[in-house]
Amino acid sequence: MTGTGALVLGIETSCDDTAAAVVDGGSEVLSSVVSSQVDLHAIYGGVVPELAGRAHLELLTPVIKEALGRAGRTGSDLHAVAATMGPGLIGSLLVGVSEAKALALAWELPFVGVNHLEGHLFAALLEHRAIEWPVAVLLVSGGHTLLVSMEGPGRYRLLGQTLDDAAGEAFDKVARFLGLGYPGGPAIERAASGGDPAAFAFPRAMLGEGLDFSFSGLKTAVVHAVRRHPEASDRDVAASFQRAVVDVLVAKASKAAVAVGARGVCLAGGVAANGVLRQALAEACAPLGLPAYLPSLATCTDNAAMIAAAGWWQLEQVGPTPLDAGADPNLRLPLLT
Ligand code: KG4
Ligand code: ZN
Repeated sequence: MTGTGALVLGIETSCDDTAAAVVDGGSEVLSSVVSSQVDLHAIYGGVVPELAGRAHLELLTPVIKEALGRAGRTGSDLHAVAATMGPGLIGSLLVGVSEAKALALAWELPFVGVNHLEGHLFAALLEHRAIEWPVAVLLVSGGHTLLVSMEGPGRYRLLGQTLDDAAGEAFDKVARFLGLGYPGGPAIERAASGGDPAAFAFPRAMLGEGLDFSFSGLKTAVVHAVRRHPEASDRDVAASFQRAVVDVLVAKASKAAVAVGARGVCLAGGVAANGVLRQALAEACAPLGLPAYLPSLATCTDNAAMIAAAGWWQLEQVGPTPLDAGADPNLRLPLLT
């Protein structure tokens, strides 16, 4: 048994994954259980908030029980309970936050409310313990596309962000348009394999302009191209679209890393599971002499281990969160000024 005396139960219910994990000392994952609601929402082509909240209510307690069981721990072994406070769907967030507070009260433990985006930034730390700061983090999820200079836990500077759609949202919308199913990212990646990434010259928006992103024009370009070329294969369209997104993400992440003198580049968020993006980022980092930190696939997408890790750090540095703090669907990443 490891004994740092810092066992945190993490709870994540911000969107459509019901997750719980037990993490020791902010980095050693004793268990991580994720119950995906993908099948529930797939027939609607996207997450239905009302259904997500109800499903979290049914799934969360069994998921927590499984996480504790797999870790071989009970409530009395724990030192804190951490849950995602936002951003996310309010009905979903409330389920996780309420259960975390109730457990903290019952077990007489501190409660820690964690920012979901900060959780994604901590995901890389779970697997790479000797990171040298600062690192440029490209956080690409269904709701966010951020380029952040992480100078250490809790120390973030925003370098760039999307001005419209998030990268994952673009994948989801294009997949929906092509009838490839939900979630769109993995569907596009599957469809693109064997396709020609140069079949369509889709726009690389704002490539030479700073570190912000724009993806809504790309989605429109895909729609126009398919209407003009109804004979085009989904493979070629998906591969060309994916290449356009990856080109912009990698170019801006490398540029950001050089601009802030980063010691490495890190991927985070669901889109970081994309194999083409992972390979392209690694290839761009090599000539710069920078390590590319690529979290394992399960650590990229929503999970509670990253929430427990961020919660442990927050408890150490900031302290517990008051029990009357509410969930916030629009919570922003706390930035250095
Ligand atoms: O971080 P995440 O699990 O949830 C949010 O916080 O949003 O990210 C989900 C997003 C979805 O848009 C999904 O389509 C995308 O990540 N995604 C991918 C891949 N796997 C998930 N995008 C591209 N390629 C993938 N393999
Ligand atoms: Zn997420």
